Amino acid sequence: MLRVLDHPLAAHIITHLRDKTTKPATFRALAYQLTLMLAIDATRDLATEEKVVETPLETTTGKVLVHQPIVVVAILRAGLSMVQPFMDVFPDVSVGYVGLERDHLTAVARNYYSKLPLLVGRRVFVVDPMLATGGSAAQAIGVVKANGAADPRLVCIIAAPEGVAEVAKHHPDASVHVGVLDRALNARKYILPGLGDFGDRLYGT
Ligand code: PRP
Ligand code: URA
Repeated sequence: MLRVLDHPLAAHIITHLRDKTTKPATFRALAYQLTLMLAIDATRDLATEEKVVETPLETTTGKVLVHQPIVVVAILRAGLSMVQPFMDVFPDVSVGYVGLERDHLTAVARNYYSKLPLLVGRRVFVVDPMLATGGSAAQAIGVVKANGAADPRLVCIIAAPEGVAEVAKHHPDASVHVGVLDRALNARKYILPGLGDFGDRLYGT
C-alpha cells in the first residue's frame, strides 16, 4: 500500500526542500516539519480506547491511545533527520539504526551497521527520506523483519516509482508512506526532480 501526503503544507515544505538555495539549517527544519506530518499520517490507525473526562462544563467521553510500543528504525545517515519528530509526538518510542550506504558507481547499498531494540510485538517504522532504487529500504525492511518485526512500515519524504516497485517486489506486505511521489530516476539513480543528495544537504557535506 502506497500512501502519499496530500496537503498544501506538505507541498509547500517539499518545494522549499527541493530548492537548491535552501541552506542546511532551514533544510533540517523543513525535514523536521514534514516528518512530523508523515508521523501523524502513518499512525492514523493506532488503537484507541474510550476515556471519560470532566471538561469545565460537563462530563464527556473521549478517546486516548491504547499503549502500544512504537519503534523507529532510521536508515543512516539521512534517516537520522526523521527520528526527532517521531520522538516528539511519541515520547516513549524506541529507536534503532541500520547503516546503509549506496556505492556511488553502482548505487547498490552496503549494510555497515545495525543496532536494534526489541522489535517483536512492536509497531515498527523504518524511516529514510529518499526512496530511489529502493535497494536501501528493501534491505532495511529485510533486517527488521529478520529481527522479529511484523508488518513494518516505511516512511519517506520523496519516493521514485522505481523504489516503490522494488519495495513492493520484496515486501508486498509493507505499507509505504511518502511526502511526494516523484517522476523517475536519472542515469545515476538520483530522483527527478528530487532534491539532490539528502544527507549532503542535511549536513552540509
Ligand atoms: C541515500 C538515502 C537512502 C538511499 C536511497 O543514502 O538516504 O538511504 O540513498 O537510495 P536507494 O533507494 O537507491 O537505495 P546514501 O546511500 O546516499 O547514504 P547517506 O544517508 O549516508 O548519505
Ligand atoms: N539518495 C539521495 O539522497 N537522493 C537521491 O536522489 C537518491 C538517493
